[in-house]
Amino acid sequence: MVGSRQTTVIRALTRTHLAALAGVVDADALPGQPGCRVGALLGATGLRPTGSDLRTGAALGQVGTVRDWQTLVAISDEVLGAVCFGRSDGGRVGTIRWLHAREDPAVVADLLDQALARLSGGRVIEAFVADGIDPLVAGLPDDRDATREALAERGFTGKQAGRFLYRALQAPPAAGDSCAVQVVAVGNERRLSIAGPSGDQVAKATISVLAPGHGVVDWIEVHPAHRGQGLGGRLLKACLRLMYHLGVRHVVGLLDDHNLDADDGHGRIGAHIVTSRAGFVTGAHLATYRRTR
Ligand SMILES: CC(C)(COP(=O)(O)OP(=O)(O)OC[C@H]1O[C@@H](n2cnc3c(N)ncnc32)[C@H](O)[C@@H]1OP(=O)(O)O)[C@@H](O)C(=O)NCCC(=O)NCCS
Repeated sequence: MVGSRQTTVIRALTRTHLAALAGVVDADALPGQPGCRVGALLGATGLRPTGSDLRTGAALGQVGTVRDWQTLVAISDEVLGAVCFGRSDGGRVGTIRWLHAREDPAVVADLLDQALARLSGGRVIEAFVADGIDPLVAGLPDDRDATREALAERGFTGKQAGRFLYRALQAPPAAGDSCAVQVVAVGNERRLSIAGPSGDQVAKATISVLAPGHGVVDWIEVHPAHRGQGLGGRLLKACLRLMYHLGVRHVVGLLDDHNLDADDGHGRIGAHIVTSRAGFVTGAHLATYRRTR
């Protein structure tokens, strides 16, 4: 029935909203992202975890550092969305840290305006710069049209922040061209490395398991003197094989291959080539936003 929705109210987030908010956050999930957990939301909203949260959340590595963030939630007969904001750089810079509202333009606008009203007074306001609910998604994904348009209407300009990469891992890559890879386990991380003829490390990579079935390639690097000989491609395949054996079926990563200054002025051409060859596709282009007055 048209008009049956209750009036929307915006108020401070409490713990009672967290389970419903996780569903709203999941509606914006990128390919390969694990579902949002209430434990992860605690660290991402500014709510102070209780002792029991810390016991369960810390065991899962989910509770982030509590900082001076505020989260407002939009509610009608259900939770419609939320925005998290605060100040950084000694209070000089206002930050819209994340906003999720199922891309409903009216809810996005309400939440953004309320957050901006509370951040008024600062000359610079940044949005989606880093450290969202999922730290890997440091930017607004390009499929979030309502949020992007709401930011533009309020004077924000966007800047490219990299590509979110995704690869489904239904089978391990063939081991045909493999090389001797050393693996060291550190918590959820696995550090892989390849030694050159003299025993020095010539290539290294770090992967992490984020949640059951979900993993990330955190970093991969080949010593400049050894690039272009296939080591990066082989090491990335070794990462994927190891992840498969760890139960990972969805692999994500972040690649700033728009950044032509990276990597001694060559940009990330090599990284673009090895990730494409290994079957990674673009899950989203990310952008950060800024308004200066
Ligand atoms: C990404 C990286 C690990 C690739 O390692 P690598 O050992 O050179 O990889 P490979 O040899 O398997 O493949 C790289 C391909 O890119 C090509 N390539 C690399 N730089 C290039 C450039 N500037 N112009 C053209 N082609 C280039 C290589 O020629 C090779 O292609 P080929 O096999 O057809 O010759 C390496 O470039 C690196 O360490 N970069 C810096 C760190 C980085 O960007 N990490 C990724 C962050 S996510």
